Amino acid sequence: QRRQQAGGPLAGVKVLITAGPTHEPIDPVRYLANRSSGKQGYAIAQACADLGAQVTLVSGPVALRPPAGVTFIACESACEMRDHAMAALPVDVAICAAAVADWRPDHVAGQKIKKQDRTSVPPPLVLVPNPDILAELSEPSPMRPRLVIGFAAETQDVHEHAQAKWRRKGCDWIVANDVSPATGHMGGDTNQVQVITRDGVEAWPEMDKTALAGELARRVAAWLARHPR
Ligand code: CTP
Ligand code: CA
Repeated sequence: QRRQQAGGPLAGVKVLITAGPTHEPIDPVRYLANRSSGKQGYAIAQACADLGAQVTLVSGPVALRPPAGVTFIACESACEMRDHAMAALPVDVAICAAAVADWRPDHVAGQKIKKQDRTSVPPPLVLVPNPDILAELSEPSPMRPRLVIGFAAETQDVHEHAQAKWRRKGCDWIVANDVSPATGHMGGDTNQVQVITRDGVEAWPEMDKTALAGELARRVAAWLARHPR
């Protein structure tokens, strides 16, 4: 177990982190989900706490133990994740590492949907859009965190897609990574990212998710020091 740095560079700083996938129920036994191990988000929560931050980690279902020294809130669906994230405000910094399902079934069956017999037609799945938590956190408002950071998991044209996402979402930084299957980043222990800010794009070398989390936490601390309230 690690010790939090009492006078660390993030002492007194409140950080909200979303992590993991979301599960969107279809009926009591079925759901739609995204692939996400939660490793990167949990590592960031740990790294921020290690630097002295007060961390709230809102997490979808993952097979990881919550890091020590963080306020941990478990949730399942995107709507629950949004509600918990908004309830955690005000914070200084929000980091959205969750792989939120973009859509959810428009109706959740109260009972298990039965397949009748082997030849019956599958029921249609009608989807509706989920709230975009990163975009909501980025909206101009007195409650807006001073620094909002999103992730962009892409499988092709990483830079172009991430740049467009950064503009569309209204967040301050986008951490873009290539999650195409050949990289092994999805579910793996390493990541290779480009960080997009107003100042341009920085390509970071491939590193351990823990090392990347530490680097990101230090960058956040440096940014806050340069931009005092
Ligand atoms: N995000 C979010 N809420 C959503 C969807 C995404 O908070 N409903 C956040 C993610 O946590 C991530 C960022 O937005 O930080 C980008 O997510 P991504 O799925 O890559 O972007 P989308 O805008 O959903 O675009 P697409 O899935 O089409 O690439
Ligand atoms: Ca998405």
